[in-house]
Amino acid sequence: MPRLSTVAFVALPFLVLSLAYFTQSYVSPLGPAPHLGSGPGYSISLSSLVSFVQAAIQAPFGASQETLLGAQHPKEQVDSEDSEVIIDEPRPRFTRRIVAVGDIHGDLINAGRVLQMAGVVDEDGNWSGNVDVFVQTGDIIDRGDDTVELFEWMEELREQAHGVGGVMVSLLGNHEWMNAIGDWRYVYPSEIETFGSISARQKAVTTGWLGNIWASNYTTAARLPLHSLLGPPNTDYPPEDGSVYARANAGPLSHAAFSFVHGGLAPMYPNLQPFPSAINNISSSLLHKLRARSPQPPPHPPHAYPGLPAGTTREEARLYGSDGPLWYRGWADEDESKICSRVDQVLQKTGTRRMVMGHTPNLQNIVARCGGKVLIIDTGISHAYGGALSALSIEYTLEPVKGGGWKEQEVVKALYAEQEDELLVTATRELGEGDLW
Ligand SMILES: *[C@@H]1O[C@H](CO)[C@@H](O)[C@H](O)[C@H]1NC(C)=O
Ligand SMILES: *[C@@H]1O[C@H](CO)[C@@H](O)[C@H](O)[C@H]1NC(C)=O
Ligand SMILES: *[C@@H]1O[C@H](CO)[C@@H](O)[C@H](O)[C@H]1NC(C)=O
Repeated sequence: MPRLSTVAFVALPFLVLSLAYFTQSYVSPLGPAPHLGSGPGYSISLSSLVSFVQAAIQAPFGASQETLLGAQHPKEQVDSEDSEVIIDEPRPRFTRRIVAVGDIHGDLINAGRVLQMAGVVDEDGNWSGNVDVFVQTGDIIDRGDDTVELFEWMEELREQAHGVGGVMVSLLGNHEWMNAIGDWRYVYPSEIETFGSISARQKAVTTGWLGNIWASNYTTAARLPLHSLLGPPNTDYPPEDGSVYARANAGPLSHAAFSFVHGGLAPMYPNLQPFPSAINNISSSLLHKLRARSPQPPPHPPHAYPGLPAGTTREEARLYGSDGPLWYRGWADEDESKICSRVDQVLQKTGTRRMVMGHTPNLQNIVARCGGKVLIIDTGISHAYGGALSALSIEYTLEPVKGGGWKEQEVVKALYAEQEDELLVTATRELGEGDLW
């Protein structure tokens, strides 16, 4: 286990086991008038726990290829009475469990119910260790009072996840951006009080603690490889020359990844490649310009809409435009007859098999379109909407097949707190022995 100290190597499984034991934004960007819309339990089996522990040991994020599958046919030499016996060790099964949750909009109680129901946290709201990755697709802020507590909780979870080899992927939604810009149309007066005052809130969401968290731990787009061979979250597609993940990202597994953005990746959006860094670099640069405004323009309303800062580039303006990743609704609003012929080109460009997004609420259920290539997970979790308490679950397994090769499986489910879970996708593929080298 290169890069893992012996202590971490020995302690990790115990830590995981002991932790486990305790066991919309219906507005358009300014310009177009805003149009307002109407406005149980996951049990953990011991075997899934054990396989998680194994996977965490065998395949931590960023693991080098050698630690994963480089030693595909390990032979162990065992001394017995009078002969040497060669035992073929089974090649390890790889599993990864991902949970994604959409728009939360200021509702700590409902967010807590969802994360617990999906197995991300335990009953105390602490990282359970039962999922490998938790993705939140933005719009934690606005339409509710619990902004401060929600963002503080997310940072605690990030820390706890990190401690046991888990990962949190956090995205900015159009509402986080609205607040960074000074567009406070969906800020409740009672929520402003939780920050102390208008000026304290304005500082927090720009140059202060919340702005700092957005700038350091949130991005606008994410690419989540399903297998560690493809690299950690946000490994670019197409692969960069010289990257240790270049080979896997150019091979048969190359599109075994999901994309996540708040609104959607429009086919005509120009900055899809390399994905996601082209988008995220533009995003960082725009956020930096917003945070650097001095003085910060007074919030709208009652003041005039401040707009994007002087010096905003065309690319930055387009990021925040109606066909940019924060606001686009085409995948949710247009007919399948139109969108399904365009989805493959976006998946192809972004090195992914499916794309996940929030932003356009369906209050009944998570929406799977085009055979599950498009997954829309905003179900109006917040009491501001009163929709379904939902989470998306993705389970990926790569199992060795007797005699060589691998069987790969993606199982995508909608999990609900108050209605029956729904199987959205089961996709199985056979991979040859040489496909994973
Ligand atoms: C679990 O959460 C509680 C309450 O938020 C906190 O006091 C405690 O430190 C957490 N435990 C761990 C192990 O982080
Ligand atoms: C971002 O996350 C890291 C890792 O959990 C944490 O140490 C850091 O304090 C966070 N950044 C901010 C600004 O809170
Ligand atoms: C994004 O920014 C990083 C860091 O500045 C840089 O290394 C990388 O080349 C940039 N990528 C793109 C696509 O602009």
